[in-house]
Amino acid sequence: MGICRLGFLVGFLWFMAMDCMAQSNTHHYNFVLQQAQFTRLCETKTMLTVNGSFPGPTIHARRGDTIYVNVHNEGEYGVTIHWHGVKQPRNPWSDGPENITQCPIQPGKNFTYEIILSNEEGTLWWHAHSDWSRATVHGALVISPARGTTYPFPAPDAEQTIILGSWFKGDLKEIIDDALAAGIGPEISNSLTINGQPGDLYPCSAVLMYSDVKYGSNFSGVWFIHCHLERHSSWGMDTVLIVRNGKTRATSMRPPPASLPSCS
Ligand SMILES: *[C@@H]1O[C@H](CO)[C@@H](O)[C@H](O)[C@H]1NC(C)=O
Ligand SMILES: *[C@@H]1O[C@H](CO)[C@@H](O)[C@H](O)[C@H]1NC(C)=O
Ligand SMILES: *[C@@H]1O[C@H](CO)[C@@H](O)[C@H](O)[C@H]1NC(C)=O
Ligand SMILES: *[C@@H]1O[C@H](CO)[C@@H](O)[C@H](O)[C@H]1NC(C)=O
Repeated sequence: MGICRLGFLVGFLWFMAMDCMAQSNTHHYNFVLQQAQFTRLCETKTMLTVNGSFPGPTIHARRGDTIYVNVHNEGEYGVTIHWHGVKQPRNPWSDGPENITQCPIQPGKNFTYEIILSNEEGTLWWHAHSDWSRATVHGALVISPARGTTYPFPAPDAEQTIILGSWFKGDLKEIIDDALAAGIGPEISNSLTINGQPGDLYPCSAVLMYSDVKYGSNFSGVWFIHCHLERHSSWGMDTVLIVRNGKTRATSMRPPPASLPSCS
C-alpha cells in the first residue's frame, strides 16, 4: 500500500490506480452449504456439502493474496468454516472455530470470511469447524508462489490434489449425537476415500482411483512413503521407494557403518 499511496501523492493517479488494482490480488468465492445425496458402498444418504460436492470446491490463490468467501447456509443447522493452516494474525474473526471466535452461521444466513494470506504457500485445506460436519464439508486451499517467484523445487510438470477422507454409511450428526449421549467413542468409518471415492476394492465405487506421481530424486537410498496416521499405515497405505546409486560418488549412498545392526 505504501507504494500505492506514494504514487497517489506524486500525481500518477490513474496509472497507480491501475497498478494497485493489478496488485490487489483478491479472490471471491461463494460457498452454498446444502444437503446433497450421495451413493457410496451401495447405499444412498443425504449429507451436508458445499455446493453439493464431496470433497468441496478447491480455492486457488497466490501467496499474500486475500480471499473472500461468502458462505450461505442452506443447511439445517449452524456451521462455521475454518481455513486450516492460515495464520491470519490480528484477524481471528475469519478463523472459524465454532463458539470460540464466532457463533455459527445459522440456516438461512450468510457470512463473508476475509482470509488474509501472509507467508503461507502450498496446499492447505478448509473445513467446517462445527462438530463432525468437517467430515463432509472440506476442500483444498491451493496457494501458489507469488507472481514473479517460483517453487522452492523444480517446477512440477503437472499438479494433482489428492484429498483423503472417511466415509460413514450412517448420518454423521446422529452418530456423534448417539456417541455423546452414550458417553462412548463413535463407531469407526466404513471406508477411507480418495477424492471422495472409496476405490475399486469396495463395492459400488464409481471409479478406479489412482494417480500417477512422478517422483524426482537426487538422493539414493530406500525411502518409506506412508500415510501419517499410524493405523492407516498398518492397513496398507504405505510403500517403499528405492533410488539406486548414481554414477558418481556424490550421487551414491555412503557405505553403511560396520556397527549397523544385522537382520539375522
Ligand atoms: C456455488 O454455487 C453458487 C450458486 O449456484 C455459485 O454462485 C457459486 O459460484 C458456486 N461456488 C463454487 C465455488 O463453485
Ligand atoms: C455453540 O453454541 C450454540 C448456541 O449456544 C450451541 O447450540 C452449539 O451446540 C455450540 N457448539 C458447540 C460446538 O459447542
Ligand atoms: C447476506 O447477509 C446479509 C446480512 O449479513 C444480508 O443483508 C444479505 O441479504 C445476505 N445475502 C444473501 C444472498 O442472503
Ligand atoms: C538434481 O540435481 C541437479 C543439479 O543440482 C538439478 O539440476 C536437478 O534439478 C535435480 N533434480 C531433481 C529431480 O531434484
